[in-house]
Amino acid sequence: MEKFNFKDHKNSTIAESYRKIAANIEYANIDKNIKTIMLTSSLASEGKTTTVCNLAHVMADANKKMLILDLDLRKPAVHRKYNISNNVGLVDLLMNKDDFNNYVHNIDKNLEVITTGKIPTNPFEIINSKAIKELIKELSKYFDYILLDTPPIALVSDPITIATYADAVILTIAHGETEKEIARKSVASLKHVNANIIGTILNKVPVNKNNKYYYQYNYH
Ligand SMILES: Nc1ncnc2c1ncn2[C@@H]1O[C@H](COP(=O)(O)OP(=O)(O)OP(=O)(O)O)[C@@H](O)[C@H]1O
Ligand SMILES: [Mg+2]
Repeated sequence: MEKFNFKDHKNSTIAESYRKIAANIEYANIDKNIKTIMLTSSLASEGKTTTVCNLAHVMADANKKMLILDLDLRKPAVHRKYNISNNVGLVDLLMNKDDFNNYVHNIDKNLEVITTGKIPTNPFEIINSKAIKELIKELSKYFDYILLDTPPIALVSDPITIATYADAVILTIAHGETEKEIARKSVASLKHVNANIIGTILNKVPVNKNNKYYYQYNYH
């Protein structure tokens, strides 16, 4: 995967769309109860990880202290976006009951990342553990927002479990790719566990020849 280069495109339409999404998150968070925001989608490759990284950058730029926590223990990808090592990460942090600071990668001003660490044989047990919930509670003291990258809802149950402890959920839908029925099922599964869906992002929307895609955020 190519090196992530959002910084080179700060003034692009895409960056502008993300700033709107960030502003909407702030409106949704008027009571300041939202710390952890989970990003997910129905299927693979709809833009979850891209959305997490871009959103984290614009929010960090707006002086929010941001942490990206890679909770896609099936196909971790955040480290690839930043070309950082994934030799150790979340899984090791939980196993060793260590200080989280030893596992944090500083990416930019106000932007830190914790990668997954080596893919475990029991991802669901980790996602469903008391330890991960306690860790997220602890991390919440040090950051304005924690963005959680997750696997696709229609393929594994991890995101539904994560939705039970994330404060808010944003669902990415890929224009022309995600079938309505699948997207509807994802929303129903999330609502079934009382997830707080604060928005959907319509990704990969064709605009014109020069600016192939953009993101559209629907406020819920
Ligand atoms: N708006 C967009 N326009 C063009 N390409 C995009 C857009 N969003 C994502 N992509 C590309 O689509 C591919 C998949 O994106 P990404 O890895 O973010 O998806 P994902 O949903 O996290 O995938 P996975 O299910 O494997 O975790 C990447 O190559 C990414 O660069
Ligand atoms: Mg991903």
